[in-house]
Amino acid sequence: MTASSTAVDRVTRARETLFQAIEESAAVDLSFLQRAPVENGWEAPPDLLRLLYALVTELRPRHVVEFGSGVSTAVLARAARKGGGTVISSIESDPKFTGATFELVGDDSVVVALQCAPLVARVRNGCLGPSYLVDRSLLASTAPADLVFIDGPPEVLGGRRTMLPQALEYAQCGSIVLFDDADRDGERGALTSWEQILGNAAELHRPRGFVRGLAALILVAPTKAQIRMSPKGT
Ligand SMILES: C[S@@+](CC[C@H](N)C(=O)[O-])C[C@H]1O[C@@H](n2cnc3c(N)ncnc32)[C@H](O)[C@@H]1O
Repeated sequence: MTASSTAVDRVTRARETLFQAIEESAAVDLSFLQRAPVENGWEAPPDLLRLLYALVTELRPRHVVEFGSGVSTAVLARAARKGGGTVISSIESDPKFTGATFELVGDDSVVVALQCAPLVARVRNGCLGPSYLVDRSLLASTAPADLVFIDGPPEVLGGRRTMLPQALEYAQCGSIVLFDDADRDGERGALTSWEQILGNAAELHRPRGFVRGLAALILVAPTKAQIRMSPKGT
């Protein structure tokens, strides 16, 4: 099998698994959580939590990277512990919520590397915005992430408008990048501009029925995408 056919296979599998996980997510039981998930505006809503669980179960990613920790980390970790060797790198900017996530994850923390990374201002793709100052030596794996979940920073600290370029640093061809709150004004505009920049290098899916809006991007040609999304000289 050639390198490019492997990449094509990964894209096909990512697409098929995404659609399958969306279908199967409605049946996911989240009763293992210490408390019932709530729609409080901060935590990932229950429909998205079910999808995260179904995606990890179906895709069996080697490595998941998450920006913005919380109940989603607990769900990813529980799905990862079902087997398949999945490990999770969770990146959080707030010391208080780093501690809270650690408590929420409990015994499932064996598959999670949770780090508190400062939020800093960086220019990416010509835009100044918040960026997590990640310590790569603290990630759960050096492997590219098959699944990246963008659920931070919060709007009050700058939001996610400039997060796709950072997410792409962890992705490879066939990676799925999930983007919560895709229906918010700032995020909707960012998605449109990313779609134009990425062109054929990514497929953008907008599955219906997710309460806060969801965007799922599958990288088709990451090298080209990363070159075009990266700021000069970094
Ligand atoms: C959308 S939240 C992330 C939610 C997380 N993925 C989950 O499912 O629980 C984005 C960020 O907001 C911050 N945050 C969460 N809850 C908060 C609260 N009640 N007050 C202030 N900041 C909060 C944390 O730093 C978190 O990473």
